[in-house]
Amino acid sequence: MNPVFAIFPPSRIENDRVQIIQTIAEMQSTADAVRAGGQRLALVPTMGALHEGHLELVREAKKQADHVTVSIFVNPTQFAPGEDFEEYPRTLEADMNALEDAGGVDVIFAPSAEEMYPFGLPPYTSVNVRDLDRYLCGAFREGHFEGVTSVVSKLFLACRPNLAIFGQKDAQQLAIIRRMTIEQGFGIDIFGHPIVREANGLAMSSRNRYLNPEERRQARVLSQALQHAAGLAGGGERTVAVLVDAMREIVASASLARLQYAEVVDAETLQPVTALHSGRFLAALAVFFGETRLIDNTTFEIAP
Ligand code: PAF
Repeated sequence: MNPVFAIFPPSRIENDRVQIIQTIAEMQSTADAVRAGGQRLALVPTMGALHEGHLELVREAKKQADHVTVSIFVNPTQFAPGEDFEEYPRTLEADMNALEDAGGVDVIFAPSAEEMYPFGLPPYTSVNVRDLDRYLCGAFREGHFEGVTSVVSKLFLACRPNLAIFGQKDAQQLAIIRRMTIEQGFGIDIFGHPIVREANGLAMSSRNRYLNPEERRQARVLSQALQHAAGLAGGGERTVAVLVDAMREIVASASLARLQYAEVVDAETLQPVTALHSGRFLAALAVFFGETRLIDNTTFEIAP
């Protein structure tokens, strides 16, 4: 048996609190019925291990739609060999409680890997958005975004939403999904939700639970570095190398931090820039604390 399927044996999840759908066919017929009734359907795609950041996406979905589906699927194809696919927290019971505490959702779509990849792995079909994955995380996570776009397109086809909500924390993912959605003609509105942060500025992430207290304390350097870079740009600095050096220096002040990248790119095309002329820019960081890889970003606008 494919090891991925051993981790996710297809089984019926029984519960009487929320409708849990595990098959694509049932999800599609449920979505079709909702849409036929004239309701607007929102999808919040997740890999589970829900935290306050996800719950904010759910609250936003409930504001913008009549019917909300949360998908929970730890997608194997977006993890490179050696990444934390096996260790990734799987907490369905806690996720159901968290969603209930946030006022409930209409459907949890929680397919098995077998349901999503009926011919095993790697799948025969994939969706790839070229060029936007060349820098930032894409330069370090071979195949990651192809795994994301492929599974998100499958989630779109299964859940048939009018609207899908993603966190801005994964800014590269969001930009790539926006482009895929337009180019593939999915007819789905994509909403990017602002980053939800802990009190010390740390962007919320399912991976924060891997951090020990000292790492968590030091991890505030990510948001501090980004704020500083945006501040420099706001104050008139136009040389990207100056912003990048300033971010590197702040990250280096945390003894447990190991920088993977600090970059400033065009927010739309995600291509590197050397000077800030007019437009919208994305400053982004990836930093390891031990084995835990954290990402964060901020966008800023330079007027013509
Ligand atoms: O952002 C995530 O949690 C995942 O990349 C997504 C969009 C649910 C696809 O697996």
